[in-house]
Amino acid sequence: MKTYRVGIIGATGMVGQRFATLLEHHPWFHVTALAASERSAGKTYAEAAGSRWLMKTPMPESMKDLVLLDASKDIDKMKELVDFVFCAVNMKKDEIKALEEAYAKAEIPVVSNNSANRGVPDVPMVVPEINADHIEVIEAQRKRLGTKRGFIAVKSNCSLQSYVPPLSPLKDVYGLKKVLACTYQAISGAGKTFETFPDIVDNVIPFIGGEEEKSEQEPLKLWGKVENGKIVNATEPSITTQCLRVPVSDGHTAAVFASFERKPEIEDIKKIWAGFEGEAQKLNLPSAPKQFIHYFEEENRPQAKLDRDLEGGMAVSVGRLRPDSQYDIKFVCLSHNTLRGAAGGAVLMAELLAAKGYMD
Ligand SMILES: NC(=O)c1ccc[n+]([C@@H]2O[C@H](COP(=O)([O-])OP(=O)(O)OC[C@H]3O[C@@H](n4cnc5c(N)ncnc54)[C@H](OP(=O)(O)O)[C@@H]3O)[C@@H](O)[C@H]2O)c1
Repeated sequence: MKTYRVGIIGATGMVGQRFATLLEHHPWFHVTALAASERSAGKTYAEAAGSRWLMKTPMPESMKDLVLLDASKDIDKMKELVDFVFCAVNMKKDEIKALEEAYAKAEIPVVSNNSANRGVPDVPMVVPEINADHIEVIEAQRKRLGTKRGFIAVKSNCSLQSYVPPLSPLKDVYGLKKVLACTYQAISGAGKTFETFPDIVDNVIPFIGGEEEKSEQEPLKLWGKVENGKIVNATEPSITTQCLRVPVSDGHTAAVFASFERKPEIEDIKKIWAGFEGEAQKLNLPSAPKQFIHYFEEENRPQAKLDRDLEGGMAVSVGRLRPDSQYDIKFVCLSHNTLRGAAGGAVLMAELLAAKGYMD
């Protein structure tokens, strides 16, 4: 496999730092440029992010002396340095939309963690095990943008990364009608640690701005179909959610209830999960978990502290599957929000795009 030069936009932030650590030893992707706001531009990565480094492993040596570019003003410089960029920035939605389009129009493919472009019908939002075929819409997007190689592809929200994977293969076999999911979300999802978010200690906060809308709408795009160069969202299942912030550093948990057109047997569901794989496994992508869904028979699993790092934080853990008195089934699931739910999921998507020739 050939190698690609990669930029990280928002490199100083929580997700950007995660990209830096994940890409340090990546077999295909080599980080050759970093960018952030004008506040960081002109400083080395060590100067700009050293004192606010939040990862458990140190800042990669190979990146410490890279001088940060201004994400908005230095697009031409970035073009000289990279084959594509990852993007995770904290800006207004319309500014992010404009920034990502500017990169795509400069012929720099963008793999984004931001929500700004997720609703655009010709922007693929991909979990490689679930809807890898959606990347086909890139050709139509390139026509709309007038580009030869530039495009935008996005990662879905971290909240749904735990419950969409176990529901996906069941949907295909039994027809999914109704889903209720309550999520218990880690503080790193808000870019925080216990030091920077003391109010969360001994507490639960029953509101995360915009999260329930994303949790209910984005699965319908992931389960949608490509028609005439656009993704047409699925119309079923009906989904309702409540998203709570809990005192956990990393790992979003969800308690899920689901009903189907044909009621599944509990043991059949476990077999389906055990055998579930997608393009990520078939193509043997470097960041793909060997076993995407891990089912735990122990009644006190999955637990965020014990299970979030399974398969490098790229697998989804599920437990407590049982019949429900109001829905057909209920279960509990967990995924690492900044790995599979953010930077790791974006790296896996970029691997899929590279393997399919979209980064050439
Ligand atoms: N945390 C998660 O688990 C998670 C999960 C999924 C998606 N996301 C999404 O990823 C994005 C970043 O989240 P985060 O938690 O990493 O945020 P963060 O820690 O607040 O980092 C924000 C980054 O954006 C940069 N930035 C701010 N204003 C900018 C500007 N005007 N121009 C260019 N860069 C600018 C910052 O650069 P400076 O240091 O120079 O200010 C920093 O690098 C958000 O859209 C978020 O919704 C986060």
